[in-house]
Amino acid sequence: MSYTVTIRDSKTGKEIECPVIEGTYGAPVIDTKQLYNELGMFTFDPGFMTTAACKSAITYLDGEQGILLHRGYPIEQLAENSNYLEVCYLLLYGELPTKAQFQDFRDDLNKRNLVHEHLERFYTGYRYDAHPMSILIGITGALSSYYHEALDINDPEDRELTAKRVIAKMPILAAHCYKHAMGHPFVYSRDDLGYVENFLNMMFSLPNRPYIPNRTAVRALDLLLILHADHEQNASTSTVRLSGSAEANPFACIAAGIVTLWGRAHGGANEAVLRMLGEIEDPKNIPTFIKRAKDKDDPFRLMGFGHRVYKNYDPRAKIIRKVCHDLLEEVDTVDQPLFDIAMQLEDIALKDEYFIERKLYPNVDFYSGIILKALGIPTAMYTVMFALARSAGWISQWLEMMEDPDFRIGRPRQLYIGKQTRDYVPMSRRKRR
Ligand code: CMC
Repeated sequence: MSYTVTIRDSKTGKEIECPVIEGTYGAPVIDTKQLYNELGMFTFDPGFMTTAACKSAITYLDGEQGILLHRGYPIEQLAENSNYLEVCYLLLYGELPTKAQFQDFRDDLNKRNLVHEHLERFYTGYRYDAHPMSILIGITGALSSYYHEALDINDPEDRELTAKRVIAKMPILAAHCYKHAMGHPFVYSRDDLGYVENFLNMMFSLPNRPYIPNRTAVRALDLLLILHADHEQNASTSTVRLSGSAEANPFACIAAGIVTLWGRAHGGANEAVLRMLGEIEDPKNIPTFIKRAKDKDDPFRLMGFGHRVYKNYDPRAKIIRKVCHDLLEEVDTVDQPLFDIAMQLEDIALKDEYFIERKLYPNVDFYSGIILKALGIPTAMYTVMFALARSAGWISQWLEMMEDPDFRIGRPRQLYIGKQTRDYVPMSRRKRR
């Protein structure tokens, strides 16, 4: 059923009928495209809290109900039955692959899992202690110089090839950020290993010591990548779309997404969880920190608890919790006191009235921070891991935008609140303000 919403300008009495568009799920949207032509007005929505910036068929999330779907498949089912590479395929092509399609996809990625030797030299320009996210931004941006003149973003085959290159090369770039910090030699990709095993091998194998992956560790990381692969139109994804809408080089667009993800308000929460656990230091200090978290006059919050969108529970946190617990049972590390603090915090938050009343459940970042720590991945690399997973979502959203017949350059409007027109005053006549 088609219907409209009437918008009336009470100053002039003029009215327009705006069509309402209904998607598969979620709030219907008011099509305001004619608003400026008809009423000479824009809409004002800082932070795009009620603005749908695009149509998308990739991911749906409902924060109230705790639902997350990729191409219609519930995240719980993907987490249980699928793997990250298959989810990449699903995000890119819209359907789950047959066995043959999956094999072809893997073979194709393997053909692209090297980077130009010259690219490796870019890393040496960074200090040994440079933040890996700053390195990843630079190196991903540098990829654009290898795929620019010959890349025609208007050609569907070139776009598909770009998507495969992104998925094949991001693990290499990410692992080499770590190797640079450690001062270890870079490790090449291996076609005989699965996506996650290969990544762990590039991270942790050494010329004198091969890396033998642990099955629980591989599964935990695979799950973590699945859970972070896409999350609809968040800040970094919107950045990729906006840069892409200017027909910028897609590798540079991914670099722009990484820039946004690095923001503390976006991808930095799992890092903050580990910093907080370090600050708590000893389980005996937990009551003090819980007291501080409840104190209105204290800005301290329990990192990894609560979510802006998921108000009942974060479906991703539910899935990852079990794997986190399994992994902690298997690993035997010097970080055990930190994990004890984490498990006690989780227990308190699930039982304490303050947290229950406010629906402050442990979120996906709480568990992912702990998992990454248990895997031996340093805290500074956490957002890099997030970027690695999310690059599949970013490039799928870029592809979708490029194929959209309504595609045009993004150009938000503004409400100008500056000075009215005034005349230029020569410097000799200006008064100090
Ligand atoms: N610790 C203690 N109290 C909290 C916390 C917390 N982590 N989060 C919210 N509250 C309290 C808050 O003080 C308020 O209490 P009251 O009603 O008495 O005033 C109530 O809960 C509601 O809080 P809110 O600020 O209205 O909630 P919000 O939706 O604006 O904030 C949040 C959501 C994620 C920013 C916040 O919960 C928070 O700061 N959490 C810690 C940081 C964190 O883990 N962030 C990662 C989120 S997941 C990111 C992703 O999915 O990519």
